[in-house]
Amino acid sequence: MSNAAAPAPQASDRADNPVHVAIIMDGNGRWAAARSLPRAEGHRRGVEALRRVVRAASELGILYLTIFSFSSENWSRPATEIGDLFGLLRRFIRNDLATLHRDGVRVRVIGERTGLEADICALLNEAEELTKANTKLTLVVAFNYGSRQEIAKAAQRLALEVAEGKREASSIDADVLGRYLDTPDIPDPDLIIRTSGEQRLSNFLMWQAAYSELVFVPIHWPDFDKAALEGAIAEYARRERRFGGLVAKTGS
Ligand code: IPE
Ligand code: IPE
Ligand code: MG
Repeated sequence: MSNAAAPAPQASDRADNPVHVAIIMDGNGRWAAARSLPRAEGHRRGVEALRRVVRAASELGILYLTIFSFSSENWSRPATEIGDLFGLLRRFIRNDLATLHRDGVRVRVIGERTGLEADICALLNEAEELTKANTKLTLVVAFNYGSRQEIAKAAQRLALEVAEGKREASSIDADVLGRYLDTPDIPDPDLIIRTSGEQRLSNFLMWQAAYSELVFVPIHWPDFDKAALEGAIAEYARRERRFGGLVAKTGS
């Protein structure tokens, strides 16, 4: 071929592109309060932002998108708000599952299922089952999820195996424990974005985030869009990931 002007894709293009982006979708309530609207309206608009961002992630070639949609600690909110949030999840799956499937999205759900209402469990199972062979984008929905609870559950399962004589305690290392979490088939997030300005993890993917780049954006979640996602990815691309080692030489 010719040495035409268009540059060939560089290996670094891939390295700058996160494989797995995880988002703490925060600020629905503040978005609504700023407009004198009920918090439920903020959550409803948050679902619209989610639709936009799933599409954008797909267009940007992201392979895994994890969204924090309900935390183990969100049970401390008023029952009416919990009802609103569960209603939106139900509606999101009922209305959007066919489109997600058509667009090649595989849905995976992490978090605690026991204790959830049967119809919610059935919807989550249906979404996972219908889309399990899709490969364009894996949408990981963290629902009723808490990182401490996830790690404690993994420890409990391992302890049981030791108690039953199926495993030596000395065999338990970080790799083994990692395989007992909810995410054995999901790479660790490269980039974690939190909207609305708070700078904390709030019990989200704490094990998996060991070497994630964290980007905090001031935008409330209902206003988040493709441009904001691209902005966070650009910030990620400027970071220098070292994983405890030394910086790789560039150029050679
Ligand atoms: C995020 O928005 C949605 C969930 C946590 C479920 P919030 O409801 O936390 O909104 P703020 O933080 O009160 O603004
Ligand atoms: C984290 O947001 C949980 C979700 C986005 C689902 P919160 O709004 O619950 O977190 P805190 O309470 O501000 O830490
Ligand atoms: Mg919040």
